[in-house]
Amino acid sequence: MGDTILEMKHVTKKFPGVIALNDVSIDVKKGEILGIVGENGAGKSTLMKVLSGSYTNKEYEGEIWIDGKKQTFTSVADAKKVGIEMVYQEVNAMYEASVAENIFVGNLPGSHVVDYKMLYTKTQELLDQLGLEVTPKTLAGSLNSGQLQLMSIVRAIAVNPRIIVFDEPTTALTDSEVDILMNFLERLRSDGVACIYISHKLEEIFRICDRVTIIRDGNVITTGNIGDFDQNSLVEGMIGRKVENMYVKSSHKIGETVLVVNHLSVPHPTIDNRNIVDDISFSLKRGEILGIGGLVGAGRSEALGAVFGQFTKGVTKQVKINGQEVTINSPKDAIKAGIGFVTEERKRTGFIQTMSIRHNLSLISLYDLPKRYFIDRGVEDEKAGAIFGRMKVKAPSMETMVVNLSGGNQQKVVLGKWLMKNPQILFIDEPTKGIDVGAKAEFYKIMDELACAGVSIIMVSSDMPELISMSDRILVLSNGRITGEFDHDEAAQSAIMKAAIADQ
Ligand SMILES: Nc1ncnc2c1ncn2[C@@H]1O[C@H](COP(=O)(O)OP(=O)(O)OP(=O)(O)O)[C@@H](O)[C@H]1O
Ligand SMILES: [Mg+2]
Repeated sequence: MGDTILEMKHVTKKFPGVIALNDVSIDVKKGEILGIVGENGAGKSTLMKVLSGSYTNKEYEGEIWIDGKKQTFTSVADAKKVGIEMVYQEVNAMYEASVAENIFVGNLPGSHVVDYKMLYTKTQELLDQLGLEVTPKTLAGSLNSGQLQLMSIVRAIAVNPRIIVFDEPTTALTDSEVDILMNFLERLRSDGVACIYISHKLEEIFRICDRVTIIRDGNVITTGNIGDFDQNSLVEGMIGRKVENMYVKSSHKIGETVLVVNHLSVPHPTIDNRNIVDDISFSLKRGEILGIGGLVGAGRSEALGAVFGQFTKGVTKQVKINGQEVTINSPKDAIKAGIGFVTEERKRTGFIQTMSIRHNLSLISLYDLPKRYFIDRGVEDEKAGAIFGRMKVKAPSMETMVVNLSGGNQQKVVLGKWLMKNPQILFIDEPTKGIDVGAKAEFYKIMDELACAGVSIIMVSSDMPELISMSDRILVLSNGRITGEFDHDEAAQSAIMKAAIADQ
């Protein structure tokens, strides 16, 4: 490990009603990976936005030093000039442009006209390095969230930076894609690049980081070599207490069949004459938690989305609820039929960014309007307040706009919105993506309570411990087909993985 390349000294950043960072100092050496951990809203992303020039030097107090020289960044371009690149927590893509254009935006090869041949060759080389199986010409809008996440990583490394920040780079990646990323990080480390790695997945922190800084409520709690921590001490540093029992699952009665889905097929969004979900049938019982495992791209989210009526083009399906056939051609139909859906891609479909937490939480209840004619403010406040408190949404008040929340707290709002609605059937896609360990434990408790109260849940998850611990039954999808079914007691990680990569 070499010399210190980056120092951030005494950084303080305030927002109205919030001190996001309070006198924070960190440093990173050449060829080192520094982990940063902390609860949702602790200030991790804000610190990185300071580093990347997203906030100008007038908007915070403190100093940034690179190679022993004090820097003044007034824009993101300034930070890029000295070799700082970011992989953001929220994927920002131009969905109408190709993968190649997304990767090289701002640096397109060619002097006057873009040299597309060169662009595609260079892009292909980079895609191969990260094992991303899409073509340079593919439209970004047709990629799934895992592929988008890998694309934004490729975009960051394309310019050979000296310092790279990864802000939760693996939330949409499956285990094998995480492996690829980890190998890649090791390569960056041996090339002398300095990396900052933010994640709520502590096993990743232990696997790849050399040192770790713990932040709580905008304050650095401690920094140390990774070897000086274990899971418990890290969690305790982050949330100030121990988490005794992560996965709560109480035994309860599983009742009669509530939902039957027959012969569900969904056409592939980009490949002609191929189905991304290929003639699958499954059912769900009262109070049951049905887990759906598989790799990113296996068709899991598409299956749920198609049942929910999010897309209908070319979809074939038969849906029965409580023995009655129902027609679901839109999310509105699905909600009327008693189904709720916590989507994976919150930015695209999860919430309205420029509305307050309160209104986002009660948004879905608006579908009841024709029956009730007005929203009962008192009831809305009480319900929203209860969920707000339980999920520990970190914000000055319920009137805070969702766009100003940290990534994990936005996810809590999306979850809370559906919990308020009390649906009979709840679809949840990657529920704990990006939320901290304390909130995770609380969410599992809520999910268990819902199941005990007779709510039937289908949960798509790439988090193996979560899938195995919380599901009563697990279906595994591979290439759009069901390749495995396991009961809670017989589900083992190895068997699930085997089914997930089963060849059709
Ligand atoms: N633009 C903004 N306006 C107002 N408050 C903000 C803004 N950006 C961040 N905050 C607040 O600053 C605090 C720190 O947020 P930050 O996004 O840095 O958290 P984080 O550690 O990255 O959390 P997560 O793990 O959920 O991503 C939070 O309380 C957040 O609501
Ligand atoms: Mg963040």
